[in-house]
Amino acid sequence: MSVKEKNITKENNELPVISFDDNHPTTKSLIEEVLSGLNKKQKTIPPKFFYDSKGSKLFDQITQLPEYYPTRTEIGIIKTYRNEMAQCIGKSPVLIELGSGSSLKVQLLLEGLQPVIYIPIDISRDHLLESSRSLARYFPDISVHAVCDDYSSSLSLPDLPQGHPKVAFFPGSSIGNFEPEEALALLQRVADILGPGGGMLIGVDLQKDAKILNAAYNDDQNVTSEFNLNLLTRINSETEADFDITKFYHHAYYNEKMERIEMHLVSSEAQEVNVNGESFQFQAGESIHTENSCKYTLQSFRKMAALAGFETVKVWTDSKSYFSIHYIELPKV
Ligand code: AVJ
Repeated sequence: MSVKEKNITKENNELPVISFDDNHPTTKSLIEEVLSGLNKKQKTIPPKFFYDSKGSKLFDQITQLPEYYPTRTEIGIIKTYRNEMAQCIGKSPVLIELGSGSSLKVQLLLEGLQPVIYIPIDISRDHLLESSRSLARYFPDISVHAVCDDYSSSLSLPDLPQGHPKVAFFPGSSIGNFEPEEALALLQRVADILGPGGGMLIGVDLQKDAKILNAAYNDDQNVTSEFNLNLLTRINSETEADFDITKFYHHAYYNEKMERIEMHLVSSEAQEVNVNGESFQFQAGESIHTENSCKYTLQSFRKMAALAGFETVKVWTDSKSYFSIHYIELPKV
């Protein structure tokens, strides 16, 4: 169901017209997924639940931290190569962004791309609306159709205009949140939506010295710690849960064998936590695994893209090879 916003004009505040679909991605799944995750041997909560409005703001703060290289490195790559990127993509595409967040990176591409429609998809409703409206204000010629959804479980899109190249933009190395098997499945689902000839511009964080990786997820200002712990605060406020956040601490480390950063919330003592009438026992030192951030090589990502049916058209990196952006495309038939 699509709601075209009324063009309400308030004093000094014109709301631009955007279309908006709310597929209510978290209302049902939060409790279910938290309960099922806490019942596992290694307790786990999926990282998509980090992004309530507080969590989205904390994530934006993370992107500004001196230790957190991915965002500024990716932005640097986009600024240097955006003309080449636009050439690869082609004229007036349908542009779909997975996990658009604050829609900051896409703005660097819009002028060169001139999409017929921009479809930002994000799980965080208010953040999505705010960002989409402000983007529509800066780019009045681009039609914006925001979709609030969890792209990891469903990808239902509005009717797309025909006769334009379809391109998915998936920056930030959010693909790293998925274990390789799930990441492949996600690429396959995106491929299904795009159809023959469709393309994807995707940011992929690269393997590097573990010291640099560990620092990026253990910042001196403890913003990442606050981001991680906010998950429990959110669960307390949106379900009947009694996590004592003073009895959990942030732990993030590079797991060399699995080629990923793991984030955990560790229980500092033996304790019981109740969630929606179910009780969960924690031993001292026992953790909830809250995030994986998988790191690739250029080759390992290319291989996965190929398994999903994509050909690699072009890959851009920064001078230190910290981060990469791949333009991958499905054969035309
Ligand atoms: C948004 C998933 C790309 O894995 O680096 C940042 C999230 N977690 N600091 C990442 C995150 C902790 C981020 N992604």
